[in-house]
Amino acid sequence: MADRFQGKQGLVLGVANKRSIAWAIAKRLAEEGAQLAFTFQGERIEKSVRELADSVQSPLVTECDVRSDEDVSRVVAEAGKAFAGGLDFLVHSVAYAAAEDLEGRFTDTPRDRFWMAIDVSAYSLVACARAAEPLMAARGGGSLVTMTYLGGERAVPHYNVMGVAKATLDASVRYLAWDLGQNNIRINAVSAGPVRTLAARSIAGFPTMEAIVEERSPLHRHIDAEDVAAGAAYLLSDEADNVTGTTLYVDSGYHAMGM
Ligand SMILES: NC(=O)c1ccc[n+]([C@@H]2O[C@H](COP(=O)([O-])OP(=O)(O)OC[C@H]3O[C@@H](n4cnc5c(N)ncnc54)[C@H](O)[C@@H]3O)[C@@H](O)[C@H]2O)c1
Repeated sequence: MADRFQGKQGLVLGVANKRSIAWAIAKRLAEEGAQLAFTFQGERIEKSVRELADSVQSPLVTECDVRSDEDVSRVVAEAGKAFAGGLDFLVHSVAYAAAEDLEGRFTDTPRDRFWMAIDVSAYSLVACARAAEPLMAARGGGSLVTMTYLGGERAVPHYNVMGVAKATLDASVRYLAWDLGQNNIRINAVSAGPVRTLAARSIAGFPTMEAIVEERSPLHRHIDAEDVAAGAAYLLSDEADNVTGTTLYVDSGYHAMGM
């Protein structure tokens, strides 16, 4: 394994359990030498996140609800403290929409749950970037990566309000790239094909999404969280030094197809 992250320190948001895409990314970065701080949301998953974090000798595991600006500022500051005042990278792998909004008609999405999906799944990236920017600037630059999905660009049945949130997230990546570039900070997204995780289980018709990718993608096969991790690690590494504001598709080529 390469050691592209030797001496690098980063914060990972979005580990819920060992199936989380964030965990696959964290494992990959740790294997390549990174030191990692983790956040978790809610007591229910604290134990499993702590166990996973311990397995990669994490110096910091702290609670964060990304709906709270105070929480986001606090955890980034705690990470900065754990890492001698700086931060090299941040992994944003967080999303939420109410289960009932991922099965019926998008048209029926109520106003409050529409904004909640965008708040958790898209605005949180802006809040994280704002908090992390000074710590990354202190290191002479940095890198952020977030997780998106094709449902933000095309209508995918059942993805509904989460598609609208991903469209907001995708646009946020581009605008953040412009702002953060002035401090040599890069930000990119990985657009992943279907991966069986906790969040994926709440999407009605998820098995159909998997079957269609297998049938119609150029490579006719599923991807897994490790494939996403490899893409994220590339984008976070110095190998992607001149890559920002973009989306890397890890989806067996499905996005390239017209039907
Ligand atoms: N699994 C897939 O097929 C797939 C495909 C493309 C993109 N993604 C994206 O990957 C990312 C990670 O999802 P996953 O599939 O690993 O599922 P997951 O359930 O393991 O991860 C989602 C994470 O979001 C966190 N979260 C939700 N609300 C939060 C809040 N208010 N504050 C802080 N954290 C909160 C959860 O605690 C959890 O850790 C998401 O952005 C998701 O949309 C997933």
